[in-house]
Amino acid sequence: MTGAAGGVVVVTGAASGIGRAAAVAFHRQGAVVMAMDVNRAGLADLRSELGDTRCVTAVADLTSGPEIVSVFSQVEGMGGCEVLVNAAGIGVSLPLLDHADEDWDRVLDINTRGTFLCLREAARQMTERGGGAIVNVASVVGIYPSPIPEIAYDTSKGAVIQMTRSAARELAPHGVRVNGVAPGPVPTNLYGTPPEQPEVPMPLGHGTVEDVVDAILFLASGKARWITGQTLVVDGGWLLR
Ligand SMILES: NC(=O)c1ccc[n+]([C@@H]2O[C@H](COP(=O)([O-])OP(=O)(O)OC[C@H]3O[C@@H](n4cnc5c(N)ncnc54)[C@H](O)[C@@H]3O)[C@@H](O)[C@H]2O)c1
Repeated sequence: MTGAAGGVVVVTGAASGIGRAAAVAFHRQGAVVMAMDVNRAGLADLRSELGDTRCVTAVADLTSGPEIVSVFSQVEGMGGCEVLVNAAGIGVSLPLLDHADEDWDRVLDINTRGTFLCLREAARQMTERGGGAIVNVASVVGIYPSPIPEIAYDTSKGAVIQMTRSAARELAPHGVRVNGVAPGPVPTNLYGTPPEQPEVPMPLGHGTVEDVVDAILFLASGKARWITGQTLVVDGGWLLR
């Protein structure tokens, strides 16, 4: 898959939405998947869909460094991390003046720090294994501010885009590629159902989690072997205004 085959595809946020669809898609390709999430029931549902073969689930909270380290040590015992998809995330929509310190901390803690902690643990194993691919799920609002007020979320995703570039530069000599996707709005628990008449026009119409996952599969694959540090916008033209 990445030039350092035989390892595990780790997906965070795998209990729901984009992460879940990514876990299913990698599993369909024959990968061994480690599905991480804080949502135990959602992981159980994924497991019942995929079965026990090549699918391991781990309940872990991305705000906890020790829980992340523990999952990655399990992954090491399974052959090491070949691909990491950092899909877990939360959003808080509040006007800037109403944002409490706790709102800011929680969003940055999960979306940015949690992404970094998983990236670092994956990178430890990938550099040992001689390669790997990391795909961070950012957002179009990390590039252009959201039409609804959500300053912590927008900031957390902008940081993920820069983290992707920074990690890519440092890890390239080890054969580890780091890229991202910046989705536009797609229906999930986080985003809800897109309105019939969206605030921002969608030139290509509404998208789905699968539209995002196809880009993740590409960036994780050998077809993207000469691509690193990039965040691919997958938004049906949302940014074209
Ligand atoms: N849906 C969209 O329109 C959209 C657009 C752009 C970016 N994104 C990003 O895509 C990613 C996936 O979001 P989604 O829309 O599929 O949402 P979702 O709510 O369906 O899935 C997010 C998953 O992350 C998990 N999660 C949240 N906090 C966690 C924590 N502390 N530890 C472990 N897991 C945790 C949740 O339990 C959930 O399963 C997020 O990073 C989100 O910011 C989504």
